[in-house]
Amino acid sequence: MNNLKISKERVQETASFIKKQIGHSPAIGILTGTGLGESLQSIKISFSCEYKDIPNFPVSTVKSHPGRLLIGSFQEHNIMAMQGRFHLYEGYSPLEVTFPIRVMQALGVKILILTNAAGGLNPAFSPGDIMVIIDHINLTGHNPLAGPNDDSWGVRFPDMTAPYDYKLAESAVNAGKEEGILLQKGVYAGLMGPSLETPAEVRFLKTIGADAVGFSTVQEVIAGVHAGMKILGLSVITNIHNPDNPSPSAINEIIDTAGKATPKIEAIMRKVIDKIDE
Ligand code: HPA
Repeated sequence: MNNLKISKERVQETASFIKKQIGHSPAIGILTGTGLGESLQSIKISFSCEYKDIPNFPVSTVKSHPGRLLIGSFQEHNIMAMQGRFHLYEGYSPLEVTFPIRVMQALGVKILILTNAAGGLNPAFSPGDIMVIIDHINLTGHNPLAGPNDDSWGVRFPDMTAPYDYKLAESAVNAGKEEGILLQKGVYAGLMGPSLETPAEVRFLKTIGADAVGFSTVQEVIAGVHAGMKILGLSVITNIHNPDNPSPSAINEIIDTAGKATPKIEAIMRKVIDKIDE
């Protein structure tokens, strides 16, 4: 049996397990990034469990990713939220990294909100800024759609002219205005990691049009687009790269800055979700 077939059977098994616990279909999926697991306080939780207790679920090996699934509601919306994601740099395959997205797809999720921590490349950015992702550059060397295509999941060659939903991005910017939070907009470069960027790589990333860099999100977005989801991506800029005056980026400072930005991310998500009408 090929990897896709195995993955598909596992997705169905996992989705059935979750469905049994909840009895309704979540329309909105949320995946939180490094240090941002606490941004989900507004959700009225009806079911939660650790990834290790979900059949077939990979387990997050990164400390700043709690590894918890939360099902609940916010206003009238049913939500499935995941505190912690899987990364290529942990050794997971693109199919494993995007497994949660496929489970969301199987459960009926139509809107996907992804958050992450990212290094800032745009000199106008400061640590703690929130960037609405308007586009990405996949530099991981991987793609979750490589290999046989399952037509029931999506088309062979998905269009990528608008992977991030324009209306959701605008809604986030407006939410920022209402909450007094300045939102930057920019292009996210997705790398494999886990080694951070050299000054020469930073120069390269700036030259090709990236405003922020990180080790996540692009695989999930590609799978989400393939699944027909509308996607909002929010990056917390945790550190700034200046290739002409390089300074080391410490992971505990990155996690700390992401944690401090959690209330801002939460306020924006709350407003965006509030305005979704489906
Ligand atoms: N590089 C990659 N990932 C990151 C960074 C960075 O500088 N900061 C936060 N996540």
